[in-house]
Amino acid sequence: MKGMVFTEFLEMVEDEFGWEVADEIIEESNLPSGGAYTSVGTYPHTEMVSLVVNLSKKTEVAVPDLLKAYGRYLFKRFNDAYGTFFENVESTFDFLQKIENYIHVEVLKLYPEAELPSFDYERPSENQLVMFYKSERPFADFAEGLIQGCILHFGESITIEREDLNEANGSEAKFILSKAV
Ligand code: HEM
Repeated sequence: MKGMVFTEFLEMVEDEFGWEVADEIIEESNLPSGGAYTSVGTYPHTEMVSLVVNLSKKTEVAVPDLLKAYGRYLFKRFNDAYGTFFENVESTFDFLQKIENYIHVEVLKLYPEAELPSFDYERPSENQLVMFYKSERPFADFAEGLIQGCILHFGESITIEREDLNEANGSEAKFILSKAV
């Protein structure tokens, strides 16, 4: 994963739980990188898993809840850092449908070594969007948090129903988004 995913995560931990907690989880995770992340570097995603598991032990907040909270947080940061992806996009569904064929494509041009998931879409009706998440990494909860962040950003009333397609590790999931009408 890109270093930015780690630096933003540790930023969130500092904001929410204090820098001591951030230091402690780095220490306890025995990270191959030592935890000295730079935003342009690339690190094993297993380091993120270790950091989240240790944060969960310390805070007694469940791992899925931490990953979702991080997704919501990171969406806001993306909004600050990548304004161009938000230009002329008016709604949650418009934005989310651009991830696979536009946003993540551009991300890969910027960072050729980025490890990205894939999304398939279905649009059963005007008020529903179905997203199929698939990854080499177990981050369906993180994806759900990013989707929540997107809904909050556009201020819409949209519910998320989730079906895990790989219950063992969260690397495949179906998200059914329904607009309140
Ligand atoms: C401005 C918007 C976005 C930008 C700039 C962006 C960029 C990125 C970047 C840089 C990574 C890290 C790649 C790596 O670590 O190697 C990533 C990963 C990821 N992105 Fe996006 N992303 C955006 C929006 C979204 C949204 C709205 C979703 C919602 C589902 C999403 C889903 C994911 C997931 C789940 C990952 C983690 C990797 C994995 O699951 O395999 N992204 N994205």
